Amino acid sequence: MGFSEQQLRALPKLELHIHLEGTFDLDTMCRLAEKNGVPLPRPREALISFSGLSEFLDLLDWICSLAREKKDARELAYHFAEYAREQGIVYAEVMVNPSHWKNLAVGDVVSGILEGFDQAGADGLPDCRLLVSLRREQSAASAERTVEWVFSHPHSRLLGLSADGNEALAKDSNRHLAPFFAKAREAGLGVTVHAGESSGPEGVAAALDCGGAQRIDHGVRAVEDGALLERLQKDRVPLNVCFTSNVVGGLYSAETHPLKRLYDKGLLVTVGTDDPMLLNNTLCQELSKVAGQYDWTMEDLVRLQYNAIQAAFCTEEEKDRLREQLRLFEASL
Ligand code: ADE
Ligand code: ZN
Repeated sequence: MGFSEQQLRALPKLELHIHLEGTFDLDTMCRLAEKNGVPLPRPREALISFSGLSEFLDLLDWICSLAREKKDARELAYHFAEYAREQGIVYAEVMVNPSHWKNLAVGDVVSGILEGFDQAGADGLPDCRLLVSLRREQSAASAERTVEWVFSHPHSRLLGLSADGNEALAKDSNRHLAPFFAKAREAGLGVTVHAGESSGPEGVAAALDCGGAQRIDHGVRAVEDGALLERLQKDRVPLNVCFTSNVVGGLYSAETHPLKRLYDKGLLVTVGTDDPMLLNNTLCQELSKVAGQYDWTMEDLVRLQYNAIQAAFCTEEEKDRLREQLRLFEASL
């Protein structure tokens, strides 16, 4: 059974796996390129093209290099909050990786986004929080500059650190990021780490054992290791899974994707979109797709939202309010 767009929008949703870099739309890219006199590397229709994770991350470098003023980051953040409202997203934790934004200082990127989210909140748009991400291939000195900025600029919407990028190109990155993550956790910040996408199950175990991750972005290749699955299930480690992103990235086909196996095993799974505008996707479309693939009911989609509330880095009082919204939705079914 399928769901209508309206039914999916009405479900109060959380988005925990999304990169602001992946929310630039084609119009914004072309407008910024023109404003800054940057030639398009390909015709507009073919601008968003890539094959594999490395090319995708290079594309993010190019797109983010178009942002030249703090205002660009602020507007993009506000635009994301408008998208969140259209989708019926009530709470989002958005990652931003300043290493992609080569023409803006870390402070301008992060404070610009926080200003955009603050303005959105004041205008009644959904509650958007920020996680500052370190790229696995990034040098220690550059990662240090980013975390120093974060630690010296606390903000109620800035909830934690994350790691993304290509693990296959930076095999020792958990060890190299560990001191930053330890410090973040001491400061009461959350830590979420991409693993089990460009690494196998050993990358997920390393993110937990060495990297100090509290939750895992992707994590899907954990399915290859039964003992690790038991551990993730027992310890209630959230896995923020992105079905379309993995299929487009060539990790699995829709038929072989392990989302249902992870869910059926009782893992704390959430569903996110990763880079929706670049993958021509939305959260409602993502939920429609996985529900269609697995014959999931609205109860399953609600359960994914309860999982996301448990996985979120906000306070217990904020989580209680989100649970109340979901309960009201359930009562309306
Ligand atoms: N940055 C944006 N999307 C990403 C992904 N899927 N994997 C790693 N880093 C990313
Ligand atoms: Zn991601």
